[in-house]
Amino acid sequence: MSQKSLIPNIKACVFDAYGTLFDVHSAVGKYDERLGEVADQLSSVWRTKQLEYTWLRSLMKKHVDFWQVTQDGLDYALDVFGITDKPLRDDLIDAYLHLNCYPEVPDTLAKLKDGGRQIAILSNGSPAMLEAVVKSSGLEDLVQTILSVEMVGVFKPDPAVYQLAVDRLGVAAAEIVFMSANAWDAVGATAFGLRVAWINRFAQRSERLSFQPDTEIKTLAELPDLLGV
Ligand code: 2OP
Repeated sequence: MSQKSLIPNIKACVFDAYGTLFDVHSAVGKYDERLGEVADQLSSVWRTKQLEYTWLRSLMKKHVDFWQVTQDGLDYALDVFGITDKPLRDDLIDAYLHLNCYPEVPDTLAKLKDGGRQIAILSNGSPAMLEAVVKSSGLEDLVQTILSVEMVGVFKPDPAVYQLAVDRLGVAAAEIVFMSANAWDAVGATAFGLRVAWINRFAQRSERLSFQPDTEIKTLAELPDLLGV
């Protein structure tokens, strides 16, 4: 992979939501004390199951929205740790609507928008989930377009999802840069034909899936320079 190479001629910046703009582990973080020492493990099992269920449901052709999948993943994780506290379960799922955004997100989006780039989200999230988390993070004036997989009824990395960006933004694939901290999502968008910056927040290894994103950066703060903004 060519690391930190300039990506020129970009008209639209399209962001994955969960893990990229918003910290999925901040939901459990709010209830650390009630969960005790299993908090981090529970958050990890929750996220893993949530994603597995998206892939499985797409393969099974039995789509339900991400709100349902997120609850199913949480219920699985709570079961793993023998947690039966219903009020805690309800607080955890509600917290998914109020996740923290990563600290560099507001400034980065503002710079890109001021630099004339379109700003959009392309996510597995349902429209209601995405609208809620964008609003609670105060990003509603920065994010111009929210694209949900509910518009096509299948989860990432189905190519139909990435095609949404091309169809709805009115910009050619080669003029769209897609950002994801989920390595498999970055690969999916690359395989589709978008320009891609993998936000490798967690120092993960590269996926062995035949396609390598255009560039790899550690946080979104590096993006304006990469795009020449
Ligand atoms: C998203 O689509 C993959 O969770 C990630 O927002």
